[in-house]
Amino acid sequence: MKLDVLFSPVLTDELFFTGKTTVVIDILRASSTIVAALSNGAKEVVPVGTVEFAVKVSGGMFGGQTLLGGERNTKKIDGFALGNSPSEYTSEIVGGKTIVFYSTNGSRAIVKAKYSTNLFIGAFNNIQALATHLKKLNENVIILCSGNNNFFSLEDSVCAGMLVNELNNCEQKVDLTDSSKGALTLFKSLGKNILKMLSETEHGKLLINNGHKDDLKDCAELNSTDIIPFYVGNALKVLR
Ligand code: MLT
Repeated sequence: MKLDVLFSPVLTDELFFTGKTTVVIDILRASSTIVAALSNGAKEVVPVGTVEFAVKVSGGMFGGQTLLGGERNTKKIDGFALGNSPSEYTSEIVGGKTIVFYSTNGSRAIVKAKYSTNLFIGAFNNIQALATHLKKLNENVIILCSGNNNFFSLEDSVCAGMLVNELNNCEQKVDLTDSSKGALTLFKSLGKNILKMLSETEHGKLLINNGHKDDLKDCAELNSTDIIPFYVGNALKVLR
């Protein structure tokens, strides 16, 4: 198994992902929110690349069964039912619903990786379940960090390193690229206190300033669920 980490979606084009097994990570907050939505019984999450497309797609779906969720520059979008805080996605609100989801970095990274043969969403909340599944699958893995407005994101990279660490401790032979060794080094250095690490990142500080301090706690929770979001037919569903 070869593990490679892309520190930003701008490093490749869509076709790069064709045939690949990819894990998309956007710790603050898209991947954590998607994991929360599906853990709390959402039927599916449809990631989209623009707000306009989110509105268009949701208009074509059955009223009442579809909710618009996400953010632009950390703020809930006008006309959307939900923002991008994992705690908003409770079972009462999202149970049985389709969530059409846009976010500044995360949903766009997922859309970019849509030609992957296997496309999973990773967060601290589900990292162990995801690692166990990837070990069984035994394919080469691309870990795509959603980044921060096309730049490097420390929290995504530390989580990528945690996944590399989990996969590196398996029976199969694991090849690490330079980038996966870099992510692993970051995890070993900064992964001991996830909440502290999150609150010291650029995006973490921005979220705290914008009143979303509690989101960091939710996003830092380690292995709180076994749910693995899997992309199938333009939507993320629970891997069965
Ligand atoms: C994103 O996709 O850029 C984010 O999840 C931003 C956020 O809501 O904090």
